[in-house]
Amino acid sequence: MTSPIDALLSRRSTLAKDLQAPGPDAAQLEQILQAAHRVPDHGKIGPWQFIIFEGEARADFGQRLAGIFQAENPDASDKLIDFERKRFLRAPVVIAVISSPDTQHKVPVWEQQLCSGAVCQNLLNATQALGYRGQWLTEWYAYNSQVAIELALKFEQKIAGFVYIGSGDNTLTERVRPALTDRVSRWQAA
Ligand SMILES: Cc1cc2nc3c(=O)[nH]c(=O)nc-3n(C[C@H](O)[C@H](O)[C@H](O)COP(=O)(O)O)c2cc1C
Repeated sequence: MTSPIDALLSRRSTLAKDLQAPGPDAAQLEQILQAAHRVPDHGKIGPWQFIIFEGEARADFGQRLAGIFQAENPDASDKLIDFERKRFLRAPVVIAVISSPDTQHKVPVWEQQLCSGAVCQNLLNATQALGYRGQWLTEWYAYNSQVAIELALKFEQKIAGFVYIGSGDNTLTERVRPALTDRVSRWQAA
């Protein structure tokens, strides 16, 4: 059994295109969401929301994405539009994490937005802990105003990411990462 620290040290994403069924069952998905929900949260505001896409909803949302994409890219090829139509079918489950800050709260919005990043990471860690794989993506549709309307987002809400979750059997090789020594310094009194 992999220890928690080894799991963190070997964590990797699996490209959405390489994800496949099965995804987590209902009880496992609930666990993944509970783990994701358990992030540090200054002010106990809970400034995030989950929107889950599974089953037919993935294809239905893909139709909407394709429609928006086609309207904004009238010269796009049929192949590209078909890709948009099938985008959410790349994984059995896609979870949109919506940053939903309380803009009137004394806790800065920046801190509240950081919570949603932690939520996405917890989603990935819990996914891996249950033996599944995932990828955190934003792609074009996280920043598209028509998609925001489609998801009924309020002005202050932003999409922190779409976390794709499924299974995978491809070998995950290490990728280039910044050297830790370039990222770490130790403060010392002058
Ligand atoms: C906020 C955020 C958005 C991302 N969006 C994309 C994206 O749109 N397309 C992409 O190829 N990777 C995106 N990534 C990167 C992948 O999630 C992932 O980190 C990468 O594919 C592999 O790195 P890993 O194995 O260390 O997780 C994003 C990452 C973050 C944190």
